Amino acid sequence: MLLGILKETLAGETRVTLLPESLKSLLAQGVSVQVESGAGIAAGATDAAYAEAGATVVTDRRLLLATADLLPVVNAPNSADQRLLKAGCIVVGFLRPLEALQALAEAIARPATLFSMELIPRISRAQSMDALSSMATVAGYKAVIAAADRLPRLFPMLMTAAGTIPPARIFVIGAGVAGLQAIATARRLGAVVEAYDVRAAAGEQVRSLGARFLDVDLGGISAEGGGGYAAELTEEALDRGRDLITRTAAHSDVIITTAQVPGRPAPLLIRGEAIRAMRPGSVVVDLAAPAGGNCELTRPGIEQNIDNVTLLAPLNLPAEVPVHASQLYARNILNFLALIVKNGELTLDLKDEVLAGACVAHNGHPVNLRVAKLLEPVAASS
Ligand code: NAI
Repeated sequence: MLLGILKETLAGETRVTLLPESLKSLLAQGVSVQVESGAGIAAGATDAAYAEAGATVVTDRRLLLATADLLPVVNAPNSADQRLLKAGCIVVGFLRPLEALQALAEAIARPATLFSMELIPRISRAQSMDALSSMATVAGYKAVIAAADRLPRLFPMLMTAAGTIPPARIFVIGAGVAGLQAIATARRLGAVVEAYDVRAAAGEQVRSLGARFLDVDLGGISAEGGGGYAAELTEEALDRGRDLITRTAAHSDVIITTAQVPGRPAPLLIRGEAIRAMRPGSVVVDLAAPAGGNCELTRPGIEQNIDNVTLLAPLNLPAEVPVHASQLYARNILNFLALIVKNGELTLDLKDEVLAGACVAHNGHPVNLRVAKLLEPVAASS
């Protein structure tokens, strides 16, 4: 069985799916590993390190695509790459099936078996494979560092002979994995932190990190969706959040916003007027930018200056920390591969809850129910 490690081609991508240190157990089972030359270099892994670990370094990407039985990736291969896949090969990675299923059409038709890291069910057995959480942790940390770098103020309170400097005030919207890491990082830097989330359960975690939790009365609406995620809210409930956010933004130096609802566009929570009312020099980091953003002024991927407020909308912050982002991702991938590689052979048990949940397509057909639903209109019109 041949496992291929590709050099990622998405613009700005620096992560690699497996590092040399990840290969030991696979090679010990007799799996052959081929790695495209240069695949790991941005993440600190040289071709020589892969070779020393026991992989074969190759330069012919097309041949690797055409011969690999198993392709763990960071991002979905582009259409041209998908057309080269060996029929029956297995691709595992951030395939974004709920946002961009059409972009996987070539691979589904090969047919390849596709597993999406985003769709792995959030059950305790699969926690070690939860790559969304790993990457959210990295992004939450890096968002605070980026904001601290741009802010024309210091984060900690300083008492010096030249006078006292008050601490920066940070407002975190969405206290999920990224938000909690942002709170912890900002607290470590000495900032005063406030946070808001629609899930009441987040309050306890926010307070345990030494931040103040801002509660909003949603008028009896439940904001809890399945698997620890938030549910999509009504406009009226969203408006109550927007009012609170406008009030809190006025005294905040930094806003880190992370609110998302899986498979839906990010909720619009920050009105333009809230940004314009912030003090000159303030910084907003919209981590929901890949899903459209939480701020109505956000332009995904573009840094803006709005009335002297910096608005950042990064699309791939984990790629700015490639070594540790790759290390965490590689561990998530390896834990997932352990479900499908047994004694060096591929074994697919699609009755397994984790595999069935994560499987986008097998033998040309959708497996995951949410994906199947997305395909319905396509099937009906063809
Ligand atoms: P996410 O990235 O989908 O959303 C980020 C945050 O935005 C969430 O906390 C969500 O409640 C919040 N949000 C959504 N709509 C909002 C709105 N209108 N206003 C304010 N906030 C809003 O979620 P993430 O970070 O991936 O996970 C959320 C929670 O799921 C975690 O805090 C944890 O409790 C749970 N979880 C469970 C896991 C498991 O294996 N059981 C693994 C990872 C997380």
